[in-house]
Amino acid sequence: MTHAPQNGGGTSLEFMGTHVPQLRLPSSVRLEVLARNGADDAVSFAEAEIIANDEIAPEHFLMRVSAPELARGMPGQFAVIRPASAREFQLTLPRPMAVYRYDRQSGTAEFVYRVVGQGTAAMARRARGEIAEIVGPVGQPFPIADSTRGILIVGRGIGVCSLTALIDEAKGRGIQAYALLSGRTQDVVLGQEVTRQAGGHALCVNDSDGSSAVKHVEPWLRAVIEGGHVQQAYACGSNRLIELTTRLAASAGVGTYVSLEAHMACGIGYCHSCATGAFGESTESPLVCRDGPVFQCHAAGNEPISPWTR
Ligand SMILES: Cc1cc2nc3c(=O)[nH]c(=O)nc-3n(C[C@H](O)[C@H](O)[C@H](O)COP(=O)(O)OP(=O)(O)OC[C@H]3O[C@@H](n4cnc5c(N)ncnc54)[C@H](O)[C@@H]3O)c2cc1C
Ligand code: FES
Repeated sequence: MTHAPQNGGGTSLEFMGTHVPQLRLPSSVRLEVLARNGADDAVSFAEAEIIANDEIAPEHFLMRVSAPELARGMPGQFAVIRPASAREFQLTLPRPMAVYRYDRQSGTAEFVYRVVGQGTAAMARRARGEIAEIVGPVGQPFPIADSTRGILIVGRGIGVCSLTALIDEAKGRGIQAYALLSGRTQDVVLGQEVTRQAGGHALCVNDSDGSSAVKHVEPWLRAVIEGGHVQQAYACGSNRLIELTTRLAASAGVGTYVSLEAHMACGIGYCHSCATGAFGESTESPLVCRDGPVFQCHAAGNEPISPWTR
């Protein structure tokens, strides 16, 4: 996933006509905050029963919870999960997690997470039948235009988890998905099963055999984008893939959306730890949790397709 900017350098995020500097995206990519569509009005708190919590790949776990309100969320939205049980006083701050898959019928939602620190290690220790405290769905979802016939998914590492619910949504709407799925090694390339079940076309690449290099994935991306197979592209998890996708998509008139990651304390717009920059004492900059995590991407130099809205 791409980190939210702290200050200075790189990409800019448009805020009321001003460009917010961003550190970590390439300077050739410019972001725009999407119009609010009310999706995050449905945010709720749940004491959700953990139905499953299994290791699916080295360091990677899948947690399924029973949470009917959360299961009504949309692709690109996320939840904040208290990693440890309510009885434990440590690790009280929740951790943000993309919803990997929704199942509205059974009222369940899935998260796939990589153990990187104390919080995710505590999540991995949770057992079936325990209760997880969850707030969600949170944030702006990925938009899909009604006329869409095909979408391009470009995800790397744990960033793929922000895109998988979109692949399910595409299947439900009769939209063809083309997915570039990248990871460090073949066994941690996520999203393969979701894409297969959706009847999508997948290119799975990894660093171990060198197949994830830009020179290897660019021809496939060009064929999908320039071949007119997709009307929108969605990316998460790799700056170089976001840059490449945005550039190729922009020149073919295909819109690109990205999901950003930021350090978050509350996940619901109170603490401002996920702010993308500062404009002054009285001017708030976009928050990744509330204004994102999904933003529209433009190739720098191109005017935004839609005006700034909030
Ligand atoms: C909207 C959103 C969706 C996310 N979806 C997923 C997901 O589906 N699956 C998943 O595994 N992870 C996801 N993450 C990242 C996840 O929230 C962090 O990995 C997690 O909070 C780490 O907690 P920890 O206590 O284990 O690690 P910590 O002990 O807090 O940190 C361990 C290391 O990871 C770094 N780190 C922690 N949080 C972040 C962060 N948000 N961004 C960048 N670096 C961080 C720390 O700097 C440190 O180096 C998402 C983050 C966001 C903002
Ligand atoms: S995480 Fe608290 S405002 Fe965004």
